[in-house]
Amino acid sequence: MLNFEFKNPTKILFGKGQIAQIATEIPAQSKVLLLYGGGSIKKNGIYEQVKEATRGFEVVEFGGIPANPEYEVLLRAIKVIKEEGITFMLAVGGGSVIDGTKFLSSAALYQGESPWDILSKRIRTEQGLPFGTVLTIPATGSEMNSGAVITRSETQEKLGMGGPGLFPQFSILDPQVVASIPQRQLANGITDAFTHVLEQYMTYPAGALLQDRLSESIMLTLVEIAPKILADPSDYEAASNFMWSCTMALNGLIQKGVPTDWAVHSMGHELTAFFGIDHARTLAIIAPNHYRYNFEKKKEKLAQYAERVWSVGQGTIEEKARLAIEKTENFFRSLEIETKLSAYTASYEGTAEKIAQNFRSRGWTGLGERKDLKPEDVEEIVKMSY
Ligand code: NZQ
Ligand code: ZN
Repeated sequence: MLNFEFKNPTKILFGKGQIAQIATEIPAQSKVLLLYGGGSIKKNGIYEQVKEATRGFEVVEFGGIPANPEYEVLLRAIKVIKEEGITFMLAVGGGSVIDGTKFLSSAALYQGESPWDILSKRIRTEQGLPFGTVLTIPATGSEMNSGAVITRSETQEKLGMGGPGLFPQFSILDPQVVASIPQRQLANGITDAFTHVLEQYMTYPAGALLQDRLSESIMLTLVEIAPKILADPSDYEAASNFMWSCTMALNGLIQKGVPTDWAVHSMGHELTAFFGIDHARTLAIIAPNHYRYNFEKKKEKLAQYAERVWSVGQGTIEEKARLAIEKTENFFRSLEIETKLSAYTASYEGTAEKIAQNFRSRGWTGLGERKDLKPEDVEEIVKMSY
């Protein structure tokens, strides 16, 4: 097992009716900026619950944060924070609203020339404007981690940021919110969380028995609840297991003491930046081919995953590992997620080359758990995925 440090300061309030607890979690006298997305919270009753729970505070609202939170929109929110003297933010939404809020948390205190530096120069946020979240869609784990991904459509970029100053102070996880999520977004959430586990697991054996089994148990739980949640998102038991699995998949715990990959996400973000493909779908396009391309380096873990998650009992390591990739792709397809880039865009010409070039110009010349994946390899993987 590798050395590690672990600290996660986010307080989780999980379960039915927990939105009412917001008032006790926000510091007294705060001037609150309530942030939300395209308006789903106004149709499913979440907005009313939040308004009721924040009645004792002075609240300013900022809605309209789009999926894949857009830099230009967030710049307008920075103005509001400064003009209104906001002291606390409350993100009510999914990964997009929460990530947008994390960017604002950092940008509100940033002293440099342009807040885009935080992303382009990978500036780590040690301290941010405090915020809490009300999660409305299980998927990203953003509610209990310190990372964010921001899109700038003007330049077709989608870049990550993070730092210990960006953990939410608290996150409210009421699984009842799952009932109103459309099928497409439910499938996205399952796929994203499943791939988060893969990124932290599908590397090489590191003798971390507990971390492996924690990862496998999250994947097994997602496989078990997937058909239930798609059939009936108001099934509270399925929804609560779905929600907690997504949070556990990316709150930092399972990555401690093990090598991690994250190349699938790096490539996926480019596909979202170019074509606007939903985040989770980009992962389903790339992951199987990433594992095919890096088969020799990952086959031991692929075989272990085949045995423990997909109950593959027979065969050599190679046979089991190959079956593991097929099972993974079939799982995504069972959620009605297309796993070929050609299903999403016809204007593919030059994409793989452009992504490789972007990675080169950013100095991303050694990706993956062994830091040996070069832009040329990325180009091949994207080509295989079309
Ligand atoms: O915008 P509204 O109207 O609220 O609608 C949203 C949005 O259209 C809708 N929705 C959310 N909750 C709902 C609901 N509809 C009905 N009922 C509800 N209860 O769902 C749509 C998608 O929302 P979004 O927040 O975009 O989804 P998700 O949570 O999947 O977030 C995706 C973003 O997070 C980033 C992705 O790259 C992407 O930008 N990620 C963040 C990570 C992190 N911070 O750790 C890690 C991930 O790998 C990922 O990169
Ligand atoms: Zn993801």
